[in-house]
Amino acid sequence: MEVKEIRAKELNAEKFINEQIRKISETVGNGSAINALSGGVDSSVVTLLGHKALGEKLTTYFIDSGLMRQSEPQSVVSLFAKLGVPVKLIDAQKEFFDALRGITDPEKKREAITQTFYKKVFGRLVHESNAKFLLQGTNLTDIEETVAGIKRQHNVFEQLGIDPHKAFGYKIIEPLIQLRKDGVRKTARALGLPKSISHRIPFPGPALAARVIGEVTPRRIKVVRKATAITEEELSATGAFQYLAILHHDRVTGVRHGKRVFGLQIEIRCWDSIDARIASPTRLSHEILWRLSERITAEIPEVVSVTYNITTKPPSTIEAI
Ligand code: XMP
Repeated sequence: MEVKEIRAKELNAEKFINEQIRKISETVGNGSAINALSGGVDSSVVTLLGHKALGEKLTTYFIDSGLMRQSEPQSVVSLFAKLGVPVKLIDAQKEFFDALRGITDPEKKREAITQTFYKKVFGRLVHESNAKFLLQGTNLTDIEETVAGIKRQHNVFEQLGIDPHKAFGYKIIEPLIQLRKDGVRKTARALGLPKSISHRIPFPGPALAARVIGEVTPRRIKVVRKATAITEEELSATGAFQYLAILHHDRVTGVRHGKRVFGLQIEIRCWDSIDARIASPTRLSHEILWRLSERITAEIPEVVSVTYNITTKPPSTIEAI
């Protein structure tokens, strides 16, 4: 089915919100639905639309995959509690790390995450809650990149010929499928979501696993999580579209306390973009780059090399896997 794009500048957010609330309510009828909130702008908008449409017939979960950023599970749950939306925290860390063990191929990693989310975790939650529907925030860019074979986004099924009802036992409702990131942000503002959400930098569904080259282990996630926290602190004032830290697979020779060490490498990326389809590296000052390198190597002693990506998308992509 061809998806008709609604461009951000043509979007009447109030009308769009009312239409989506009506559609969700009609589709779910007397049944019930679940959704997973990550705290990103897409899933936050879907959570609010779902709650307005379904009230208590929607149960919202935060899946702690062990791959999220520093303090993210607790801060997202408490922010939504303040907005009057209860969120249940599900600890699924073991399931994700078990599924990722030994995998180094990027698409296999994405597939392991997709299966763990949709088959194992959502399958269980749907079964326990008796819900027939999963609401999620897939947007048009996610679909286009998956269909074009660039990256298998973790949340795209029907456009790949996968029937979620047959594959996982529930139907998927995707209210944001006609929008891109800028349209989703406009909808978030119209819904009255705080700026910390409506302006939040994009974060991928596979979370920090999209930023670890090679095997994803709790130890390697800990390194990239710390580097991500530093990168976000140092770059949030730039106003860039997205900024991130990547942990490389290869090690390089470094020096610590006068002795040779074979240490880890972190790559920083900071992107200027409108909708993530094309992007170019932000021209960061040397002072900012210098501070990032100083902090990362001081606060993460295993890291002996910090580099900055200077390649546009394409040929690069925004994330590393
Ligand atoms: P790439 O790396 O393909 O990323 O240039 C484009 C935008 O999409 C985000 N991204 C994802 N978002 N599920 C998502 O919901 C995914 O599997 C996924 N992979 C990448 C990425 O952060 C960037 O904003």
